[in-house]
Amino acid sequence: MVQRYSKFMIVLHWLTAICVVIAWFLGEGGPQILKNPPTVHFAFGLAVLVLVVPRLIARLAGGAPRLDPRSAPLLQLAAKTGHAVLYAFLIAMPLSGWYAASALGIPVTVFGVTLPALTAPIQQPPGIVADLHSNGGTVFLVIAGLHGLMALYHHFVLKDDTLRRMTPA
Ligand code: HEM
Ligand code: HEM
Repeated sequence: MVQRYSKFMIVLHWLTAICVVIAWFLGEGGPQILKNPPTVHFAFGLAVLVLVVPRLIARLAGGAPRLDPRSAPLLQLAAKTGHAVLYAFLIAMPLSGWYAASALGIPVTVFGVTLPALTAPIQQPPGIVADLHSNGGTVFLVIAGLHGLMALYHHFVLKDDTLRRMTPA
């Protein structure tokens, strides 16, 4: 029998993946964002932060099954490390984006509610956090892409249950 992630974790995983990809495509930089802030980018990016909180709580409460013990120890270590890195990006990307927007003096407004600024506005250029955010976004997408490829490798080459663990029955 396949040991699946809980339904809740599965829904959060796929919703998060969709939000990350949309946020990446809608990311914008440059002086024009001061006049015309990418609010939909902000909304999808913040959704990632909102989704990661219950996900980590559900995980701590046992929502994630143990890795398959038959899997090679090196693969298990790679999976654990990879998942930890993905979680770190899921937290760091939205927070650094929010900080970058605040540094640029752009109000972060979602559904009509303006969130507090994380730092005081600074003069151009927007600073190191903004640079880390913009480049980090692309690094994140590449790592998430490799992670997706690994899941497909498990499914089609190793022919194990890894991908099925993250799909509804
Ligand atoms: C997982 C979530 C996110 C991803 C993957 C992401 C990705 C990106 C990328 C790739 C860029 C560079 C675009 C370019 O220069 O062409 C960017 C820029 C930016 N993002 Fe995000 N972002 C995320 C969340 C957020 C959030 C939540 C906010 C604000 C609340 C935000 C605010 C910004 C700002 C202000 C810039 C411009 C920075 C600059 O001018 O240097 N991002 N983002
Ligand atoms: C932006 C895109 C994605 C992000 C941020 C992401 C993130 C994550 C994270 C953090 C975990 C660990 C879950 C936990 O144990 O708590 C995970 C597990 C998993 N993901 Fe993704 N993922 C993405 C896309 C994908 C894609 C495209 C696929 C499939 C093609 C996929 C398949 C899986 C599978 C099968 C697992 C379970 C692995 C196992 O049981 O060891 N993910 N993902």
